[in-house]
Amino acid sequence: MDETFDTVEVTFNEETGIGHLTLNRPDALNALSGQLQEDIVEGLRVLEAENEKRGEIALRAVVIEGAGGNFCAGADISEFSESSPGDSSERAHYNFIMDFPAPVIAKITGYCLGGGLETAMSCDFRFAAEDAKLGLPEVDLGIIPGAGGVQFISELANPAAAKEIAMTGDHISAARAEELGIVNRVPDDIDAETQEFAEKIASKPPLAIQAIKESASVATQTGLREGRQYDRRLFEPLLETEDHKEGAKAFAEDDYEPEFTGR
Ligand code: COA
Repeated sequence: MDETFDTVEVTFNEETGIGHLTLNRPDALNALSGQLQEDIVEGLRVLEAENEKRGEIALRAVVIEGAGGNFCAGADISEFSESSPGDSSERAHYNFIMDFPAPVIAKITGYCLGGGLETAMSCDFRFAAEDAKLGLPEVDLGIIPGAGGVQFISELANPAAAKEIAMTGDHISAARAEELGIVNRVPDDIDAETQEFAEKIASKPPLAIQAIKESASVATQTGLREGRQYDRRLFEPLLETEDHKEGAKAFAEDDYEPEFTGR
């Protein structure tokens, strides 16, 4: 299954269960036009539909990356006169990624600015190339990041780092972003190590992975006591799954790799 939209390309590998979504406006450093934001959602819908086709959880992880060596230089400034940046952030690709049933990994190369960084932060994981440059330059346009960039960094790193990055508009290195907790890893080989990580996540029981994504999201919105009660409700149905039995059996027998189906 490969599909090409105006500004996005989507591929799915049936063997690994990994979908790739490539932002494809390299001449504009993959700036988020309205079209690109819509295509991201459409591309993710096409990947999600792989599950429905087979009646099982075929899609296990998604990698989002940018064509041409850059992840994304933020909202498309040339469209600012047509619609306010506030409008464009309402186009819901950020929420769509956050609520997406499979884990989403942002593979960051080159520039990752403004709405590009917000897109990466709405993903579950961020792997950045050593020479990636991240930042929230909106302040220099007299605005703030419209999709919650300051909120995201306050949560991933801390409010002081968020204020520094958003108030200066400076680009920070991948190493600094890793130190702050904004990116998970800065691998030596971004392609190979992102793929290896995606394959690892993709090999896990998908219902447990979905429950972990939901739990981590709840953790940021509730107190510990309420969050732990929520986890109990996620935990109990997993005890009834075939994947739980498969994992326990493989552990006990200790002579084969478990195969998880999402049932
Ligand atoms: N929106 C629309 N077009 C953009 C863009 C954006 N956010 N960022 C870059 N582009 C376009 C440029 O206009 C240029 O197009 P052109 O070749 O038709 O002139 C092309 O992408 C290459 O960008 P350029 O500025 O020439 O590259 P550079 O290497 O000199 O600088 C950046 C790269 C990222 C530092 C610079 O493009 C930049 O600051 N972009 C804006 C980032 C921003 O403020 N984003 C937040 C918006 S709210």
